Amino acid sequence: HRKLRVALLGAGSVGSQVANLLLTHREELAERSGAELELAGIAVRDVDAPRDVELPRELLTTDAESLIVGSDIVIELMGGIEPARSYVLAALTSGADVVTGNKALLATHGAEIFDAADQVGASVSYEAAVAAAIPIIRPLKDSLAGDRIQRIFGIVNGSTNFILDKMDREGLSAQEAQQLATDLGYLEADPTLDLEGYDAAQKAAILASLAFHTKISMDDVHREGISNVTAEMIEGARKAGSVVKLLAICERLEEDGEESISVRVYPALIGRDHPLASVHGGNNAVFVEAAAAGPLMFYGAGAGGVQTASAVLGDVVSAARRHIAGGVGVGESPRMSLPTSPIGRILTRY
Ligand code: NDP
Ligand code: HSE
Repeated sequence: HRKLRVALLGAGSVGSQVANLLLTHREELAERSGAELELAGIAVRDVDAPRDVELPRELLTTDAESLIVGSDIVIELMGGIEPARSYVLAALTSGADVVTGNKALLATHGAEIFDAADQVGASVSYEAAVAAAIPIIRPLKDSLAGDRIQRIFGIVNGSTNFILDKMDREGLSAQEAQQLATDLGYLEADPTLDLEGYDAAQKAAILASLAFHTKISMDDVHREGISNVTAEMIEGARKAGSVVKLLAICERLEEDGEESISVRVYPALIGRDHPLASVHGGNNAVFVEAAAAGPLMFYGAGAGGVQTASAVLGDVVSAARRHIAGGVGVGESPRMSLPTSPIGRILTRY
């Protein structure tokens, strides 16, 4: 097998699991990708920080810039905008394929990043960025490319679902439930992103851009989080046969013959007999309604280190195959914004 140099940026909840799988599944991954994936190093802030998984000390470094140089595949799992943005751009400029789970980065700097990739013929893959372990990016980009998507809705944030679920089913306080979600590695480094709905809005912007073939930015998304949801509200909902869920909704609307797109995130009351009411813990569920395919349902782990690592590794195998094939698009993951569709107007509606 040909050797490919892989650089990993970040060894937190997700990165440490990705490193572990790259090291322990080495032979299987080589068989599947056609390349030996050599983990050249892991960039972190503090090489002595405790890790979820024990990693070889000699692979840890604080020098991300040097690690990126000469790498074939760069996996970005640091999170946040800077320095993640600069490292991703440096990796692409050097011709490396990039795999990332960073929805905050893609929802705010996606255009810049995809343009940089296009200029050198590199790929950017991000299956892990939306709904963690659930394959949803490739189905939207590839499997449903011949269909017309009308609506996507569901639960796309694992930590807030976990918190609301614990409050509802076990009577925990929001603080107690949040602590448990933190221990499980579900929350973003800045929990406000989850609690105030930013993370779900970033994911909704990515999903809507892919589904409707047009650029949807964070500014186009109506956003409300769960910080105002109280135990009393959850109790009241239960008495009324409902449950509170943080929903993301992306849909095409038609009014007076004019088509528009609405993307919104907010806590909503869901009847207990609706399938979304049965999405417990850190799970996510995404419903896609397409004109020809009809309704489709995607369900599974929406957060968690090892679960998310599965999606990252899938992208790494695809990137390796692409590399081996000479970069001609085999397994290439989607651009977030494709050429603009006939949809003229983006409407934020709620
Ligand atoms: P963590 O906060 O657990 O880990 C971040 C890692 O990046 C740490 O190892 C940290 O180093 C390193 N890091 C941060 N800043 C720097 C820097 N400036 N230089 C070098 N290293 C740095 O994040 P997660 O693993 O939870 O998430 C990573 C990404 O994956 C995020 O974009 C997140 O949104 C996304 N994601 C997370 C999911 C989850 O369930 N956790 C699910 C899906 C996507 P050190 O350890 O030394 O502090
Ligand atoms: N913080 C995110 C969530 C991680 O809770 O859904 C998965 O993207």
